[in-house]
Amino acid sequence: MSLMGLGLDYARLDARWADLERLRSGNPMYDATIEEIDGRRIRVGDHWLADFASCNYLGFDLDPEIMDSIDVQVRRWGTHPGWSRLLGNSALYPQIEEELTDLLGSPDTLVFPTITHIHMSVIPILAGQGAVFIDSQAHKTIYDGCTYARGLGATVRRFRTGDHEHLGTLLREAPAGQTRLVCMDGVNSMTGNAPDLNVFARVCRENDALLYVDDAHGFGVLGERAPGQTSPYGTRGNAIVKYCGETYENIVLVGGFSKAYSSLLAFLALPTWLKNHLKVSAPPYLYSGPVPTASLATALSGMRVNARRGDAIRADLYRKSMRVLNHVRSSGVYTPNVADTPVIELPLADGRDIDVVGKMLWARGIYVTLAAYPLVPRDEVGFRVQVTAANTDAEIDELNASITDLTAAGQLRRAR
Ligand SMILES: Cc1ncc(COP(=O)(O)O)c(C=O)c1O
Repeated sequence: MSLMGLGLDYARLDARWADLERLRSGNPMYDATIEEIDGRRIRVGDHWLADFASCNYLGFDLDPEIMDSIDVQVRRWGTHPGWSRLLGNSALYPQIEEELTDLLGSPDTLVFPTITHIHMSVIPILAGQGAVFIDSQAHKTIYDGCTYARGLGATVRRFRTGDHEHLGTLLREAPAGQTRLVCMDGVNSMTGNAPDLNVFARVCRENDALLYVDDAHGFGVLGERAPGQTSPYGTRGNAIVKYCGETYENIVLVGGFSKAYSSLLAFLALPTWLKNHLKVSAPPYLYSGPVPTASLATALSGMRVNARRGDAIRADLYRKSMRVLNHVRSSGVYTPNVADTPVIELPLADGRDIDVVGKMLWARGIYVTLAAYPLVPRDEVGFRVQVTAANTDAEIDELNASITDLTAAGQLRRAR
């Protein structure tokens, strides 16, 4: 395809995108128009599928109490007040930050529209002219924030994922007196695994580094451990720092409401002095439009529903996730997930079959995230299943039956 007659052919200019473009244009699992939903079933054309590609882990997108919270706030504040946050905030903002600070048990919190806004604006500020150390499997949006930081004068080095010794070596090699920022994921968006945060926090503290953790997929799912917890996910869903029994000393936690809470909003857990500094230095606070009122309303009511019903929902989410994981593991199929979270990646025996496998799942009425190259490295091509509390047991039966079929057809990588 040419761009405005310039003859630019992007697929040819950058062959990296060719696989993805083939799937986008030829596989029904990509770029679909979803015309109707019914619980966690979706309709594309006249084809109904069970949706296992949704990040709405707690099912809050479908919760009547949360839906009902929108109208009253939109009538009070309008659909989308036009101030940047520095100019003015609806009273919903301080309310959300207060309740979120209480939930996370952090010194303070600051919310922005999305995690991408946070990474792109806050990583360069925290890095300054210093050194950034990034986990080699960190989310693309963290990479983008680090790349921008490098453009503004920081140096960026990668450490092997999960390898705190490698990180320690790199930190010790860094010039003294420089700012040091370590960036990594909490619950990984593909493997579903959580890092050993205690060990990484210790290495960072020993080397005067600030640890910056993106727990987009852990917030709402994992939380502090407590006697009587309803599942191994812990209680309250207050994210990986609390789940690991850590303090916020030298840690900035980033998370979002756009997954478990089904609302467009993201946050930093941080000290108040840093919050005040970001209010005058992080571009989205100064220049970006606000979060739509409907999302502020659902984030707030979501936290209140979480306080009352969250642990019961997480117990159900854990049970449903384990139904899939137990089936995968007992079938001898490989998944990197050892943390029992609802994010279940299933690499293919041969990544070249991704189109065929996507079409098989489609025909069986199962909707998943196809993890094609370059979204994942070539040797990890496969698909990702995400379980939500709103998926029914009947849908999980259908998913497990399709996994059985793909296993029999030799399409899934075997566990060693
Ligand atoms: C780990 C991680 N970080 C950041 C993002 C982007 O979040 P947002 O949509 O809030 O920018 C995602 C989205 O999938 C994610 O998985």
